[in-house]
Amino acid sequence: MTTTNSAPRIACAGLDLVIAGNRILSGVSLAAAPGEFLGVIGSNGAGKTCLINVLSGAMTPTAGSVRFDGNEIRKWPPHRRARAGLGRTFQTSTLFLGRTVLENVRLAGSSRTTGFLAALPPVRRSDPGIGDAREALGAVGLSDRAEEKADALSHGERRKLELAMVIAQGATCLLLDEPMAGVNSADIHDLVEVIRALHATQGLTIVMVEHHMDVVLDLAERVAVMHHGELLAVDTPEGITANETVQSAYIGESL
Ligand SMILES: Nc1ncnc2c1ncn2[C@@H]1O[C@H](COP(=O)(O)OP(=O)(O)OP(=O)(O)O)[C@@H](O)[C@H]1O
Ligand SMILES: [Mg+2]
Repeated sequence: MTTTNSAPRIACAGLDLVIAGNRILSGVSLAAAPGEFLGVIGSNGAGKTCLINVLSGAMTPTAGSVRFDGNEIRKWPPHRRARAGLGRTFQTSTLFLGRTVLENVRLAGSSRTTGFLAALPPVRRSDPGIGDAREALGAVGLSDRAEEKADALSHGERRKLELAMVIAQGATCLLLDEPMAGVNSADIHDLVEVIRALHATQGLTIVMVEHHMDVVLDLAERVAVMHHGELLAVDTPEGITANETVQSAYIGESL
């Protein structure tokens, strides 16, 4: 649970991101406490993915700091951040669809030491990482699909597999970019419960960008609202729902 006094697990301060003269992020300061579940919402193009990119190291900010477990990581490449326990998932699925579910997780686990995913031989049964991979699959409820090809999974199951992969990489702080994207509404509830259980049982810190407002308000302990590259508000779900500035920024969209 959130302890507001503790040092942040992950924090950014005064983040600016300018690409080709376009100001994408402007003075964004945000922090998640150890074990906190922080939601991030905002309309299309608000800068949510760019924020995740800056936190994960995929993009370098023009100005500002990024701190993780007390270290300034602004100049750390993504694989160094991953080794330190900072993991991310992507708005669009990133799986090896021709490989089995177990192989996908095992390959992700291997990248923990190699720093990259692709050029690895087929996974062997004697592989010492198999136990960890199976454990990660168990944590997302996919144990019984381990030997199937990833392309046999539904979109909701693929999203669960991506979560297992980031857990297998050793991540204890997760940056999730729209984990519900592409998932049928019938499968969303199931995925929400997997994410809730992961957060509760594994002591994870989670920063989750998500368009499904009901999901964010249900899962997150605090919610950050982005608008045109700026942070509009950070509050409890109840506070955000009642916030008139947020309401007016969302005119025409459901909150
Ligand atoms: N690599 C890039 N180069 C130039 N502009 C970019 C780049 N990536 C994003 N942008 C621009 O930055 C702005 C913010 O994009 P971003 O993808 O972060 O939005 P978002 O909040 O994630 O939107 P969505 O809800 O649609 O995923 C947009 O105007 C986008 O066009
Ligand atoms: Mg996005």
